[in-house]
Amino acid sequence: MSETAVLTRSPGRSLPQAAYTDPDVFAADLEHVWATGWLFAGHTCELDRPGAYLTRDVARDRVIVVRGEDGALHAHHDVCAHRGSRLTGADRGCVRAFVCPYHQWVYGTDGRLRAARHMGPDFPVDDYRLAPVAVREIEGLVFVSLAQDPPDIAGFAAALGPQLAPHRLAGTRVEARLHYRVAANWKTLVENNRECYHCRGSHPEFTLSNFDLGVHGDVRSHPRYEAALAEARARWARRGLPGEEVSFPGGAWYRIARLPLRDGFVTESLDGRPVAPFLGGLTAEDAGSLRIVGLPDMWAHANCDYAVTTRLSPVDAGTTDVDVCFLVRAEAGELDVDALTAVWRATSEQDWELCENNYAGIASRGYRPGPLSPVVEASVEGFLSWYTAALERGRTPA
Ligand code: FES
Ligand code: FE
Repeated sequence: MSETAVLTRSPGRSLPQAAYTDPDVFAADLEHVWATGWLFAGHTCELDRPGAYLTRDVARDRVIVVRGEDGALHAHHDVCAHRGSRLTGADRGCVRAFVCPYHQWVYGTDGRLRAARHMGPDFPVDDYRLAPVAVREIEGLVFVSLAQDPPDIAGFAAALGPQLAPHRLAGTRVEARLHYRVAANWKTLVENNRECYHCRGSHPEFTLSNFDLGVHGDVRSHPRYEAALAEARARWARRGLPGEEVSFPGGAWYRIARLPLRDGFVTESLDGRPVAPFLGGLTAEDAGSLRIVGLPDMWAHANCDYAVTTRLSPVDAGTTDVDVCFLVRAEAGELDVDALTAVWRATSEQDWELCENNYAGIASRGYRPGPLSPVVEASVEGFLSWYTAALERGRTPA
């Protein structure tokens, strides 16, 4: 069966075609990868008052994340306890209560059913509620888990918290949002993110400010990059900015790494200059670019003046939705949004074109799994090992 073909892949090569195109494998991905760990949902700053909510789709599942009256975050399946209707019609908003559009059952932000008309005098309102989903907020980023028994997130929180804290993302606003529908399997997008083999050929804006080195497992070295990294780490240490790299420890699902930018660039902009006021208490010399990766669905860069997050949402085997958000200091005045988004709009769109082109070939009769570079694609291999291990665990009874 096709799932077996995925698991019998040759290490050091891309996956068999079915892993990318077969609806059965896609269903296994949802079950064993997307519904077992933690997923990136959105940002604390979008949930800044009681009733503020956002939604997070994963194929047929939708999670509502909402700030409760008590200030705590709640997450629920977006499924009415009556006959199952969706409650939300919008990606985000602010409500006093969730009112089902079908027969108007009313739910509090805590998910409890408050009112259900025409259900008879003895209807036990307290017995019904929206099914809860695990949710965690870490330094301005919000994560949810579709697992019944979510894995411990403490290691990720401990690694991410101190490194992201200086950027104070909780005190930001989303200044720009880009949404894309990409005609490629979600793994094609993650593989693309896990190597910078393609950067020099495809990302002229990105490589202005970034070395195309520093991706986890990329064993190339360059004296100019090594010197920049050593100098930046010494500077970050002097300023009390943690700079320790934590990359997929023990095969875990996350990476946090602060990397230096090229000389003359304090942020990822076209001219090297800031495109927004500094975040938190940072200054131009401080920050480099903090890279955050969460498998299977997110990556983010936090710079001294803006942060950019990318969230993947699988739709079907050959379709992935992507949301890219740009965060700036909440009290920043009017900004040049074109300048703010220039590097990551261009880079994202270049990547989606590469991914669609890649997927078109993968889906064709001529595709065979191909060899990964031991020099620059070790992190692709790392991702594929993580993925196949997750499928394997899912097939093995606990
Ligand atoms: Fe929601 Fe009927 S399905 S009130
Ligand atoms: Fe890229």
